[in-house]
Amino acid sequence: MPQMRLDKFFSSQNIATRKEIKSLLKLGLISVNDNTKLKPEQKIDTDKDTIKLNGEVINYKKYIYLMLNKPKGVVSATNDNKHKTVLDLVPDNLYRPNLFPAGRLDKDTTGFVLLTDDGDFAHKILAPKSHIEKTYHALLDGKITQEQIQMFEKGIVLEDGYECLPAKIRVIKDGENQLVEIIICEGKYHQIKRMAIAIGRKVLELKRVKMGNLELYDDLQEGECIEILHKDLCKII
Ligand code: URA
Repeated sequence: MPQMRLDKFFSSQNIATRKEIKSLLKLGLISVNDNTKLKPEQKIDTDKDTIKLNGEVINYKKYIYLMLNKPKGVVSATNDNKHKTVLDLVPDNLYRPNLFPAGRLDKDTTGFVLLTDDGDFAHKILAPKSHIEKTYHALLDGKITQEQIQMFEKGIVLEDGYECLPAKIRVIKDGENQLVEIIICEGKYHQIKRMAIAIGRKVLELKRVKMGNLELYDDLQEGECIEILHKDLCKII
């Protein structure tokens, strides 16, 4: 049942703290079905009740889904003693108490990190059997051969003997240091870098550009974060 306390409703949506809600209630700025005689512990039904702040309807969102364009030097964790975390980059208006990164990028990897407070959704996309495609752009320390491309397609064997699932690799910018697109559908520790090492190459720069069919938004600058709306969220799974 979508029932919760009024103060919890506002704090879960990161609109106001419990303390702030008390003042707002005293000032009569919050209403539930146009009634302003309310207590913080008042139970509301998020499906049926109309909750307003300053006369504006608050549409309840159970969960939030964010696309972050992670810069280098930021860690994919919820807290860290030494480094900035991906959560430090979330602006106040998008912040939620239980946000976490659904999948990790290395500290020196840039690009698409999904942040959410929806544990079930995160579990679905991270479960090994879901095989969600992750697309990366990798700058290599040289060129790849046709033979190496075939090794990717067959399934690279990592240094510890792990046999990767078949992956796709194609050159997107030729040169002494080729820029390649790599698509994998699993997420082992340092997987792309280790796959490159297994074919005798090194990754100099790595960026995640796509999860499932959802591309990192073109206009999202490094360090910026934006809410992913339903129509785009469906592209991930
Ligand atoms: N593979 C890596 O090696 N590093 C990442 O951050 C992501 C995939």
